[in-house]
Amino acid sequence: MIPESFIQDLLTRIDIVDLIDRHVRLKKAGANYMACCPFHSEKTPSFTVSPTKQFYHCFGCGAHGTAIGFLMEYQGLGFVEAIQEMASSIGVAVPDERRDGDSEKRETLRDLLEVMGRARDFYKESLKKSEKAINYLKERGLSGETAARFGIGYAPEGWNSLKAVFPDNYDSQELIAAGLVLENEEGRRYDRFRDRIIFPIINAKGATIGFGGRVIEQGEPKYLNSPETSLFEKGRELFGLPQARQTLRAENRAIVVEGYMDVAALAERGIGNALATLGTATTREHTQKLFRQVDSVVFCFDGDMAGRKAAWRALENALDSLTEIKSVSFVFLPDGEDPDSFTRKRGKAAFEKLIREAMPLSSFLINELKKQCDLDSAEGRARLIAEAKPLLLRLSAPLLRLQLVKRLAEEGGFSQTEVERLSGIKGYAPSAPPEPPKRAAPSLPRTLARLALQRPLLVSRIPLELLPPSKERAILEAIIENLPRLPSVPNYAQLREQLRGHSLEAECDALAGEWIHLQLAEDKIEQEFLDALTRLEEGKRRTKFADLQKKASQFGLTGLTTEEKERYSQLLLEKTGANPLKQPG
Ligand code: UTP
Ligand code: MN
Repeated sequence: MIPESFIQDLLTRIDIVDLIDRHVRLKKAGANYMACCPFHSEKTPSFTVSPTKQFYHCFGCGAHGTAIGFLMEYQGLGFVEAIQEMASSIGVAVPDERRDGDSEKRETLRDLLEVMGRARDFYKESLKKSEKAINYLKERGLSGETAARFGIGYAPEGWNSLKAVFPDNYDSQELIAAGLVLENEEGRRYDRFRDRIIFPIINAKGATIGFGGRVIEQGEPKYLNSPETSLFEKGRELFGLPQARQTLRAENRAIVVEGYMDVAALAERGIGNALATLGTATTREHTQKLFRQVDSVVFCFDGDMAGRKAAWRALENALDSLTEIKSVSFVFLPDGEDPDSFTRKRGKAAFEKLIREAMPLSSFLINELKKQCDLDSAEGRARLIAEAKPLLLRLSAPLLRLQLVKRLAEEGGFSQTEVERLSGIKGYAPSAPPEPPKRAAPSLPRTLARLALQRPLLVSRIPLELLPPSKERAILEAIIENLPRLPSVPNYAQLREQLRGHSLEAECDALAGEWIHLQLAEDKIEQEFLDALTRLEEGKRRTKFADLQKKASQFGLTGLTTEEKERYSQLLLEKTGANPLKQPG
C-alpha cells in the first residue's frame, strides 16, 4: 500500500500542465491551457487543463482527473504504475507501507481489501496443493504461466477452509461483508467458495475486489460470484482488465467476451486483449472505460439467441459513447462455440480473422431491425424507422448517424430528409462547434459544494443540517469524511485522488468542470462563501417565519408559545420593521 501522504506530496510536486504537455500539445488560453481532447475525437479544443487547480476536464466527453488520472487514462497505466511513473520522473522512490492509523471508514475499506488479498493468496496456494484442480486446468489447456497471470486459485473442499487464514476473525462481520463467508439459519458460518476454481477480479489499482468460482467438471451453479460490496460493483468491472493493459495499448482494440475461461484461454493462445463482463450485461460504464484506452471495441458473443440479445444490449449501451474514431463491432461465433472452444479447434489466426472482419455496429443495428420489420409492407417500412428513432437519437457521432440514416432510407424506401424528419433528428451540420459549458445559475447547495471542492477546509463551516438531502450534500459529506486523511491545507487534486473510486466521483467531476473556467481570485472565494452562508441562513429564517406565520394565522398569536412569539416578532421586525406584539400607541 502506498501511503496517502506520499500521493498527496507527489500531487503538489508534479505540475499537471508539464506532465500533460509531454503527451498532448497544450495551448495557453486565458488562465488555462487547452487542446483537442486525447480521449475523444474533436476538431475544436474542449480539453482544458488548469495550472492553478491542477486538474484537466473535457467538456466534450467528460474526461476529468488529476495528473495521476491522466497517466492512468492516457497511458493505460494502473494506479500504482501511474504513481511509480510520476515518482520516477522526479527521481523519488515510492515508499511502501502496510497500514497506518487512519480513521474508521477507510479502515473498513482497507480491511476489506486486506481480507480479499489474503483470501486470494490462500486460494492461490491451495491450487498448488490440489492435483485435481491442477489437472482440470491442464485439461482445459491452461499453462501454469497463464494461471499465474490471472492469479487463478482453488477453493478447497470443506465448509470452513478459510478458518485457516482467518483463525481469529472467521466469526467476525468482516468476512460476511467481504462475501467470503455465509451464515445459515442456525447461525453457523461456512465458506461461500468450496471446491471451485477461483478467478480473482482485480481493479485498476491492482487490488482484488471479488472472485468468480467455477465448479470442477459438472455442478450447479456453474459459476458463483462474489456479491457486490463497497469495493465491487459488477456493472463497472471487467475481468482481465489489468492483465490486458499492455496489449490493449499495443493493439488499440479490446475484445469483450462472455466468460472468465474465454479470457484465460485466449491469453493462453496469445490473444492478450480479451476481457469479460462478470456474468452481467455490458453497461455504459464498461464501454466508456474501454474507450478511454482503445479506439475499437469488439464484442464477441455466441451466435445463438442469448448471444444476439447480449450483443443488442451492448449496442444500446455503447451508442452514446461512440464518436467518429471510437467504434464498436460484433463477432458472432458458430453455434455452440465460445472463444475458448473456437481457438482450441481452429487456432489463433482463425479467431483473429473473425475479429478483423467483425460486423460494424451500423450493420448489426440495421440487420436486427430488419428482422423485426416486414419490409415488404408500408407498415413494416414505417416501423423500421420508428424502431430506429430512439437509437438514432442516442447516437452522438454525426457521421455515423448520417451513414445510418442513409442506409435506413434505402432499406425503408424513404429519402434521407424523410428519415431525419420522421426520427426527429437534425441533419448533419458540418463542424458544429462544441456547446459552451452551461452557465445556468447554480443552486445554493451546488455553489457550496463547488466552493468546498475548491477549498476543502470550508466544509467544516457549512451547517449541513440546513441542506436538504441531495447529491451536493452527499459530496459535502464525502469531503468531511475525507478531511482527516488530507494534508492540513488540502487542494482539489489531493481531495480528488482521495475520492477515487467513490460513488460520487462522476458527480464531483461534473461539478469541478463547472468551475475550471471560473476565474475567482483566492480572496474572492471567502467572500462568495460568506455570501452563500448568508443566503442559507436567510432561507432558514424564511422557512421558520412562514411556519410561524401559518400557525399564527390558524390559531392566532395566542396559539404560539412564548418562545415562538418572541422568535416571530423578531423575524417580523427584521422583515418589515413592525412588531405585532407591541400594541400601537
Ligand atoms: P459460460 O457458461 O459461457 O462460462 O458463462 P465459461 O466462462 O465459458 O466457462 P466454461 O468454458 O464453461 O468453463 C459465461 C460467464 O457467465 C457467468 C460467468 O461470468 C461466466 O464466465 N456465469 C455463468 C455466471 O455468473 N454464473 C453461471 O452459473 C454461469
Ligand atoms: Mn466456455
